[in-house]
Amino acid sequence: MNIRQPIILAIESSCDDTGVAVLKGNQVLSNLVANQEVHARYGGVVPELASRAHLSNITPTVTLAILDAGISPDEIDAVAYTIGPGLSGSLLVGASFAKAWAWARKIPTIPVHHMRAHVLAHFISPGPSPDFPFLCLTVSGGHTQIIHVHSASNMEVVGTTLDDAAGEAFDKVAKLIGLPYPGGPLIDQYAALGNPQAYSFTKSKVVGLDMSFSGLKTQVLRFLQSQLAQDSEFIKKNLHDFCASVQSAIVTMLISKLELAVKTTGLNQVAIAGGVSANSGLRRALTEKEFLLEDPWKVFIPPMSYCTDNAAMVGIVGVFDAVDKKFGSLTDTPKPRMPDLNS
Ligand code: KG4
Ligand code: ZN
Repeated sequence: MNIRQPIILAIESSCDDTGVAVLKGNQVLSNLVANQEVHARYGGVVPELASRAHLSNITPTVTLAILDAGISPDEIDAVAYTIGPGLSGSLLVGASFAKAWAWARKIPTIPVHHMRAHVLAHFISPGPSPDFPFLCLTVSGGHTQIIHVHSASNMEVVGTTLDDAAGEAFDKVAKLIGLPYPGGPLIDQYAALGNPQAYSFTKSKVVGLDMSFSGLKTQVLRFLQSQLAQDSEFIKKNLHDFCASVQSAIVTMLISKLELAVKTTGLNQVAIAGGVSANSGLRRALTEKEFLLEDPWKVFIPPMSYCTDNAAMVGIVGVFDAVDKKFGSLTDTPKPRMPDLNS
């Protein structure tokens, strides 16, 4: 193994997408995602169907990713895979495959925390990458956290949602207006043509760096019920303004908590990660912070392909850990819940 440039096969199967990547050091040689369309009609991920789809997708996706990378399987130094958090059955498929593949080739495994992978995606070439320490807002379908990233292996959660994740808030509101799962990207798309000030939703009153999004869903539900009672065509007529207003409420909450985090930690490098970091309203609001006249932020926004779940981000953690000689064992088992980012 080239200690600085290990070649890592990475597998991400925490939810409904089967991701496989090959990295050489921080260079991505290939990065594939087999999406599962099967869930859209159910309005959310069906765990049993997700595990079955992973089982049929994983072998061809690994074969293709290695072909795409232009390397021989013999050149792979270690297999990194998501050990948690996520859906048990989905994690089991990725973990079992990774361990079996590594065992057959007599190479080590590297179990990876999914949220740590979202954070470290910022170190995939060509960057730019933040310097340690920095702040990272990780916003996905299952998590919303403000993380003080001391180093690649020392991450401290300084703020978190007390209920729904930001992505969940987007998806639940989208479901209320009949959009398919996942609704976040669709709200973003419709919001682009709407007025964010058309309707106002009040911010939650959680103090400090913690957040809450469940109240927004209830507020939106009541708002829709009263509007629809007056005009059954309300959603159709006001789709863009409605989506822009909901998006603005979520983004405003996230940005105000980040402002407080910058103030309390004194850190001015701010990164975002996770599926919701693909949101154009959030990306725009954050970019504006680079132009503050006083104490501008240094902002790090990942490319779209590294925002939503992907295996390249698992691979970069594999590289960090391989360099530090931190490997797993064949007895490691998936952990659906992993509150400690450094575990
Ligand atoms: O990180 P991710 O791919 O999977 C999890 O680990 O959860 O995040 C998925 C979440 C979903 O809730 C999805 O609706 C949301 O990210 N999302 C978006 C956008 N793209 C994905 N939310 C708002 N705007 C987007 N453009
Ligand atoms: Zn994720």
